Amino acid sequence: MEATLSDLARVARGRLAPAVWDFIEGGAGEERTLEANLDSFERVWLRPSVLRGAGRPETTTKILGRTWDAPLAIAPLAYHTLAHPLGELATVRGTAAAARVPIVVSTFAGRTIEELAAEATVPLWLQIYCLRDRSITARLIERAENAGFEALVLTVDAPHLGRRMRDLRNGFRLPDGIAPANLDGDGFAAPAAHARAEFDPDMDWAVVDWLRSVSSLPVLLKGVLTDADAVRAADAGADGIVVSNHGGRQLDGVPGALDALPEIAAAVAGRVPLLVDGGVRRGRDVLAALALGADAVLLGRPVLHGLAVDGAAGVTRVLDILLDELTDAMSLAGLRTVAEVGPELVRLRPPPA
Ligand code: FNR
Repeated sequence: MEATLSDLARVARGRLAPAVWDFIEGGAGEERTLEANLDSFERVWLRPSVLRGAGRPETTTKILGRTWDAPLAIAPLAYHTLAHPLGELATVRGTAAAARVPIVVSTFAGRTIEELAAEATVPLWLQIYCLRDRSITARLIERAENAGFEALVLTVDAPHLGRRMRDLRNGFRLPDGIAPANLDGDGFAAPAAHARAEFDPDMDWAVVDWLRSVSSLPVLLKGVLTDADAVRAADAGADGIVVSNHGGRQLDGVPGALDALPEIAAAVAGRVPLLVDGGVRRGRDVLAALALGADAVLLGRPVLHGLAVDGAAGVTRVLDILLDELTDAMSLAGLRTVAEVGPELVRLRPPPA
């Protein structure tokens, strides 16, 4: 019986074609940032408080005016259909069975916005890659808004896709039948080439105003890694920030997301909610991220592992394990609520030089 997310990852690896596994797991360049995401959590020591009569911990939290069952959401991931034929539909079902937390649906989802909305009992958000042809992006946003999606997450770290060596070496192409369900066109089978052709490399801060002009939904910017950009995002009117290095898949050599978090939390000083992703694999990682200034984390690859292992039930299993671990860690650390998590909960070892 798999007891941890890494156990499930091992099983998933056995179920997926090697090149698909590499596409999911891989990072850009020498994968230093990919490693840093995991390493950064290993440098956090927790400092529990004993004899606090904390009782059973409560994981709920309030973000952007909504109550979440846990400080956790599902990261935008292209093509869940690579991991399971039902794709995002299984993710929606499996998430709802575990917890009421948002799912960020990728621009490159394998299922349509409308079918996901019809099925979902958890909040759906739309991730946006801004395309050169803004009318396509505007149309996606309009569809999401009509379907009841609750927020937009603009990915700002991807003017094109990073150089992912495993995919280059494998000559990776999406398998037959895998395509974005919400976009027309072709050339999708080669993701990097498609992105170079279609993503808008000239996107700048004016894009936030443009998003405001086409939608009334909250806008979060995903992929911010410096204090200066975080302040600029808040000044530009972003409703939230996702501190992220895209799971190590874009600019290799940037720090682990957890390493980037403290300076951003200090600079933003609570003006907007902060989410963080990259390397969250255990309940205690969620606590570490909260202690270093995040309001919640996003979970990426483990969701695809769950799908590959057992579809919707696998996603439920991933979330159940993570939430059990979170409750366990909170209880053992003497924490009653998420709001009680503060900087005094952690001590950091310095990163390797
Ligand atoms: C991603 N990520 C991503 N991000 C985004 O903004 N839009 C997208 O379509 C995708 N697609 C995608 C596919 C796959 C296979 C992976 C692994 C990642 C990045 C994702 O949202 C998130 O930032 C990272 O996955 C978080 O790191 P972990 O949890 O995977 O370590």
